[in-house]
Amino acid sequence: MTRSGQPAGSLWTEYDPGPEYPPLRGDIRVEVAVVGAGMAGICTAWELTRRGRTVALVEADRIAHGVTGHTTAKLSALHGMAYSRIRKVHGAERAGQYAASQQDAVAHVQELSDGLGIDCDLERTSAYTYVTAPDRVDDVRREADAARDAGLDVAYVEEAPLPFPVAAAVRLDDQVQFHPRKFLLALAVDLVRHGGKIFERSRVTDLSEGEPCRLTTSADHIIRADDVVVATHYPVFDRGLHFTRLEPKREVVVAGPLPPDAITPEGMFLTPEENTRSFRTAPHDEHGRMLIVTGEKFNPGAPHDRGSAAHLDTLTTWAGEHFTDFTVTHRWATQDTFSTDHVPYVGRLRPGGHHTYVATGFGGWGLSGGVMAGRLLTSLITDGASPWAELYDPVRLHPVAEAPAMLRLGAKTVRHLVGDRLPGGHADSVDDIGPGQGAVLRGHGEGPQAVHRDMSGTLHQVSARCTHLGCIVHFDETERAWECPCHGSRFDVDGAVLHGPAVRPLEPPS
Ligand code: FES
Repeated sequence: MTRSGQPAGSLWTEYDPGPEYPPLRGDIRVEVAVVGAGMAGICTAWELTRRGRTVALVEADRIAHGVTGHTTAKLSALHGMAYSRIRKVHGAERAGQYAASQQDAVAHVQELSDGLGIDCDLERTSAYTYVTAPDRVDDVRREADAARDAGLDVAYVEEAPLPFPVAAAVRLDDQVQFHPRKFLLALAVDLVRHGGKIFERSRVTDLSEGEPCRLTTSADHIIRADDVVVATHYPVFDRGLHFTRLEPKREVVVAGPLPPDAITPEGMFLTPEENTRSFRTAPHDEHGRMLIVTGEKFNPGAPHDRGSAAHLDTLTTWAGEHFTDFTVTHRWATQDTFSTDHVPYVGRLRPGGHHTYVATGFGGWGLSGGVMAGRLLTSLITDGASPWAELYDPVRLHPVAEAPAMLRLGAKTVRHLVGDRLPGGHADSVDDIGPGQGAVLRGHGEGPQAVHRDMSGTLHQVSARCTHLGCIVHFDETERAWECPCHGSRFDVDGAVLHGPAVRPLEPPS
């Protein structure tokens, strides 16, 4: 809780022991530049450093603070109902590669944690995908079959260690839950110890491919690198037109201590029911454990969505109904990107490119996916090949399976590009905007303006045109942020970028 009695933000970002890394203050030359320092970026930079490459890891904000700092931190190869979907779209062999690569990631984190002596609250536990509705039991049975065929040692069960009954579940033992920032900040220290360089608060705004590639930061410093990895969650350089095949989704998270005598869920749990519920516990104090619950997927910036406050209320109610005497002390929101064929995009940034790489589209499984991406990209850069390269190849396309999702994403972008420019659904005057609120105003002869009135009454006004591709942003009151409905960019009330793919702030008012 904060001093004012309000729930605090992310549980993980409370852990901030330093060190802070400096911003880039001049031009540099390295063998590999990694843009974005979340799970995928830090793991990639660490692997490459250990393979003897000179590496610069460049982060627009603080390392391990964005999506990775707002996850539930479940590291598992059991990904909801993933295996039945992957087998259907990609075939049984690819599903087996997916299982092997994700299980490798789980084992690798255990090895690193043991080998480097990282104290990150790592616990081995079982992962469950469950349903409570009898008419979903066949879905679980199908997922258990698909996961088993893919090589995972799963069990189909009809009971789970929970304070409420389930109809069926898939269980995979010996998976991992941990503190993501304790793990990644220790990995970053080790990376620097072995010669890697880390730059925080250094936003990369331009990429020129070549030999070497050339990255430019917002402070006009240049990084020259033989190879570049774009690991910015949603790729800020989209030479492969990934925005046609990536969908951003936001979710809310609530956390709080369970009473000492509560029935504590033993494991990591996920159900696709009720717009997804996913939960685990974490060490808290000598009296008990902290429950962390996420769910309520929604489209960021969607004008007709209920907004994060309503989703937080729904999730809090659900958690209270399922876990007695659960009190929310922390709540936050997180964002992830989903590919149109249920497998992340990890590999070459564009067809024919030889020195630029991307890692994105983890679909809510960015911890195991980030570790896997680091292993795969390091193999591609240092050896030119990886056994998982074809499965995750970003330029793959399955037209039949992907067409409906791609058409839906394209239609959504056009709808927001055109429809949101039409009058309606916006405030007419600043007088209509109350303290804490924001709205898009349309003046006469000027572009749409994003206007927020803070709690002291001061107005903050910027252009409402997203600097990525020009969609109109919408305000989320709980998060005090402007969100773009097209590809999920987020901006603070004065226009600064909080989340890409945009790399430039919203323009000053015209
Ligand atoms: Fe693409 Fe805004 S994020 S137009």
